Amino acid sequence: MQEELQQLRTQFERELAQIASLQELEQFRQRHLVRRGTLGQLRERFRQLPAEQKPIVGRLLHELEQFVQQRYQALQRSLQERAEEQLRFDLWLPGRRSFLGGRHPIQQVLDEIVAIFTRLGFQVAEGPDIEDDEHNFTALNFPPEHPARDMQDTFFLTPDRQWLLRTHTSPVQIRLMRALRPPIRAIVPGRVYRNEEITPRSLAEFHQVEGLVVDRSVSFTELKGVLVAFAQAFYGPGTEYRFRPSFFPFTEPSAEMDIRCFLCQGTGCRVCKGNGWLEICGCGMVHPAVLRNGGIDPEEFLGYAFGMGIERIALLRLGLDDIRLLYQNDLRILRQCR
Ligand code: PHE
Repeated sequence: MQEELQQLRTQFERELAQIASLQELEQFRQRHLVRRGTLGQLRERFRQLPAEQKPIVGRLLHELEQFVQQRYQALQRSLQERAEEQLRFDLWLPGRRSFLGGRHPIQQVLDEIVAIFTRLGFQVAEGPDIEDDEHNFTALNFPPEHPARDMQDTFFLTPDRQWLLRTHTSPVQIRLMRALRPPIRAIVPGRVYRNEEITPRSLAEFHQVEGLVVDRSVSFTELKGVLVAFAQAFYGPGTEYRFRPSFFPFTEPSAEMDIRCFLCQGTGCRVCKGNGWLEICGCGMVHPAVLRNGGIDPEEFLGYAFGMGIERIALLRLGLDDIRLLYQNDLRILRQCR
């Protein structure tokens, strides 16, 4: 057995010298160092030896074990180091890319609009997505039979139709008037809901920014001035615009503002449906009944309001022609807008 131990030592040395990877080292361990491996079996045989042989063979066996263990550990250490080194310095390995997060295009447009109106002296306010009939319709002067109160347009939350998902940000006008004393000068970004078919042009959930100003002497001229200042800040100084008469139950007179289609410069394209203009917001002087419903005396104060949709603007910014792309969280789309 002494002889055998000698030979094993040379054999181990030879094998260890050829090991070039952690994988091969592991195979070596499985062959020799586990309980049923070469050394384990030797230990087993040692136990069976006659007592007088034990001291000398025991010492040799112990030496062999020590030797293999030391060499094994040293080799393991250097192979691990080399593996790590390779990981660290392999210049050909593609780098691990980490992607910067970014604001969603809708949020970017909202932030920009808020920044412009903040410079114009507006405060930012918010209101709840779940509203009651009172704030969303009645106090805003919608007659009981108005088509917007139809299931077709509104997501009602209760069978009595008292609770609903707001169909516009205008209910926050009522909340602001009831909570604050004039002068009021606020914008309200937020999410709104309409029971619409989901198409490339419309979603059931989208965003608006509402504006409300109530003071002693405000005018339609001031309203126009504010919206023109906004359009020029947002769309560029030379932006052409026009106001068209319109109707909303909560404003009188009412108008809609269009800007020149900046995609085709007015020559007509798919985005402006060929007419050269893009509608950007509804607006008007707050109806006296609405001021009254907000607890404000229409003899003493006047107001104007406006509301604009955000999704369309974001689409134009990104050059997309399908509104649904904004909500699919496809990174290829989101990465375009940083
Ligand atoms: N709330 C209206 C809409 O959703 C927009 C609007 C707001 C019009 C304020 C006038 C004044 O279409």
